Amino acid sequence: MRILVTGGAGFIGSHAALRLLDEGHDVIVVDNLFRGHQGAIQSLAACGGPRFRFAQGSICDGEFLSDVFARERPDAVMHFAALAYVGESVERPVDYYRTNVVGGITLLRAMRGANVRRIVFSSTCATYGEPNPGTTGIAESTAQAPVNPYGETKLCFERLLRAACRSTEAPPLAAVALRYFNVVGCDAKGRLGEDHRPETHLVPIALEVALGKRSHVALFGTDWPTADGTCVRDYVHVEDLIEAHLLALGALGTGEFRSGKFLAWNVGTGRGHSVREVLDACRRVTGHPIPTKEAPRRAGDPPVLFADARAIERDLGFHPKKPALETAIADLWRWMQAHPRGYA
Ligand SMILES: NC(=O)c1ccc[n+]([C@@H]2O[C@H](COP(=O)([O-])OP(=O)(O)OC[C@H]3O[C@@H](n4cnc5c(N)ncnc54)[C@H](O)[C@@H]3O)[C@@H](O)[C@H]2O)c1
Repeated sequence: MRILVTGGAGFIGSHAALRLLDEGHDVIVVDNLFRGHQGAIQSLAACGGPRFRFAQGSICDGEFLSDVFARERPDAVMHFAALAYVGESVERPVDYYRTNVVGGITLLRAMRGANVRRIVFSSTCATYGEPNPGTTGIAESTAQAPVNPYGETKLCFERLLRAACRSTEAPPLAAVALRYFNVVGCDAKGRLGEDHRPETHLVPIALEVALGKRSHVALFGTDWPTADGTCVRDYVHVEDLIEAHLLALGALGTGEFRSGKFLAWNVGTGRGHSVREVLDACRRVTGHPIPTKEAPRRAGDPPVLFADARAIERDLGFHPKKPALETAIADLWRWMQAHPRGYA
């Protein structure tokens, strides 16, 4: 197949593009490199040869997108391009709505123009807001009530996809939203890494401390109502996350997942780890003490978030192959040691 991957120069999109190339597909990456990396594009080009193409431009630019769709004639889209920082979304809601909602609409219009009717969309547990996960985790049926503009834009685009799937357009759209929890690790063969700028994710920050690039990790609250007082999150290896995308893509438009249907699944391991547990795992992998400093709680940080991940296992047979946090940390640690300046 030919898959158009938006945001394919970023962390998760580049890993999706790589896996698709490894599986023998043609991949067209669309990215404006606002947060993505030329270095990731170079690695993809080296792996994919002529089966890989890169179109630099914005998903908000309809003319650019129409040209790419007309030239490349993709069979389906994986849509990762977004602005994706919670704090920044509070500061710059207009930019977030423009990229994540207007950009999404522009993409859907270009898909319709080229008769491309399958899309897998990167959604997030931030669409749930601050739910009570109980003992079994947050299920897909949990009310979606985001508490920041980032989560709002992702929910807004999910709703648009649902409406587009139900519309009378022929042939109808088939869409999947995958609601990720926290994503960690990188390609085990070291061909791609994780390099967010600014970095806000716990594991790369801890590994930057181990590399000597930072002095400590800030603990945002140590008096949360959890066993050790720090927040609990569900971490899925990026390679497992991409496996979920491939399963979703394979199911889209077939059998019970026929066109005209919008589907949403959580992707997580179903298990929570506290910030202190994650840091202990980073210490075990790196052998570095990784000092911490206590800092005030951040507004809008729910104490506990972990997925009820049973639906995607039941419906698509998805089961994480790398559930151990140490495995993901060790994969990223190898890449970061080999690339201490990231993709720079
Ligand atoms: N990283 C996580 O833990 C996580 C968790 C839940 C959901 N997500 C979602 O997964 C997706 C990928 O996240 P990531 O961590 O890889 O982020 P990332 O910032 O590394 O990648 C996003 C990519 O989108 C590109 N982009 C941004 N605006 C664009 C535009 N207007 N036109 C074209 N390209 C544009 C950026 O240049 C970047 O390469 C996002 O949609 C994010 O909301 C990520």
